[in-house]
Amino acid sequence: LDEKDAVQTPLCPHAASRAHTAHAAHSLDAIPGPTNWPLVGSLVELLRKGGLTRQHEALVDYHKKFGKIFRMKLGSFESVHIGAPCLLEALYRKEGNYPQRLEIKPWKAYRDLRDEAYGLLILEGKDWQRVRSAFQQKLMKPTEVVKLDKKINQVLVDFVSRIKNINNNGKIEDLYFELNKWSFETICLVLYEKRFGLLQEEVNEEAMNFITAVKTMMSTFGMMMVTPVELHKSLNTRTWQDHTAAWDRIFSTAKVYIDKKMKTNTDRAPDDLIGDILHHSCLTKKELYAAITELQIGGVETTANSMLWAIFNLSRNPGAQKKLLEEIRAVVPPDQDPCGEHLKTMPYLKACLKESMRLSPSVPFTSRTLDKDTVLGDYAIPKGTVLMINSHALGSNEAYFDDTKQFKPERWLRETSTINPFAYVPFGIGKRMCIGRRLAELQLQLAMCWLVRDFEIVATDSEPLDKMS
Ligand code: HEM
Repeated sequence: LDEKDAVQTPLCPHAASRAHTAHAAHSLDAIPGPTNWPLVGSLVELLRKGGLTRQHEALVDYHKKFGKIFRMKLGSFESVHIGAPCLLEALYRKEGNYPQRLEIKPWKAYRDLRDEAYGLLILEGKDWQRVRSAFQQKLMKPTEVVKLDKKINQVLVDFVSRIKNINNNGKIEDLYFELNKWSFETICLVLYEKRFGLLQEEVNEEAMNFITAVKTMMSTFGMMMVTPVELHKSLNTRTWQDHTAAWDRIFSTAKVYIDKKMKTNTDRAPDDLIGDILHHSCLTKKELYAAITELQIGGVETTANSMLWAIFNLSRNPGAQKKLLEEIRAVVPPDQDPCGEHLKTMPYLKACLKESMRLSPSVPFTSRTLDKDTVLGDYAIPKGTVLMINSHALGSNEAYFDDTKQFKPERWLRETSTINPFAYVPFGIGKRMCIGRRLAELQLQLAMCWLVRDFEIVATDSEPLDKMS
């Protein structure tokens, strides 16, 4: 959430008047929630509702049934779910200096094993703040990030031509894979000043190994989040072996490019944001390796997935696509590439992206581990409790968005908007919000311009779509 948005938001009664009344609040045990069986908690019920891949739908149902806040146990893991702008605002206003997310233990175990540092996704406390502020100035400042438009366009030229080449009677075989290659190529160019050639017909072995390692690392850590990583490590399970081998490859490749960048000290281009950080921050080499590698990991699937949904939503809403094309044609001269300057006068484009991310967020929830006792709404929640912030449930709640199931970019353009900014949190909230937000938005907005200008995106059917978490 933008600092600006937050300041403009009037305090709701939950956020303000109850802030100092911990004694009047109910205890954690009083928070309602689904059946809590011994040992398994609500796991069986969740599995009956479609399993972990349908988690986001189950969470919407639970919010309907129990209201703004509920409590759930899965095995031994207990969490409190919040799905109301009021409670998010209260949390935001009480946030300390070093907010924490749920630990990603498998990643930490790897770093400890190899004596590598932690990056922003897993750091905590003062170390997190130090690393965050080294990157924050460049990555969260729109006037800095917009300088990356030419780099982003360089990859988009290749992406558009790749799509034209593989277009088979209007169909693209595996658009999601193509989009992952596009976002991977873009983030690598931004971070390492290096083109991997992933959008070429023949992809070289080094690039393929790198992208495969990231895929393997991502697909192996989930299992170790729900079963003890120490057990995997001591039994040297296949999952642990694959996970560590994947990280080894990711780190060794990333280090080569970071080292190269560190050596080139002269004539840095104004759009070399990362070069500036590498040369001017007080971070150690190890810290830079970890932070940059995690920026790369954070920026691939999230962006590709959001783009896939934007394409899907525009295909199912030809009226919106037509209006967007009109805006693009009015602002971007036909002989020019869309650029950061054009985006300043493209409100409909921004509304389309916002609406797509509301309706289909690529990260349906984030978490916080409370670092102090906190009163939220009617409840006093103890330190150490894990809170889940359900952005998908917020975006699909009729109380905060009318016609929630409809793709209506216009809702973001109404002069007297009644949308509560705390109801739209696809990039998280507060000091720990996504640090790649500005970059992702720029990348997605430019990509939408290129694609809608060059292609008509047509839905092949109008069947309801199954979403998976
Ligand atoms: C954190 C979403 C793109 C790097 C997060 C969080 C969310 C998120 C929900 C958690 C925030 C919180 O807990 O409040 C997204 C979405 C993206 C995207 C939807 C694309 C549409 C990117 C990109 C990068 C990136 C492009 C890299 C440049 C990170 C990092 C964090 C993070 C490093 C951890 C920040 C911290 O804890 O200080 N992202 N992200 N993300 N994201 Fe993104």
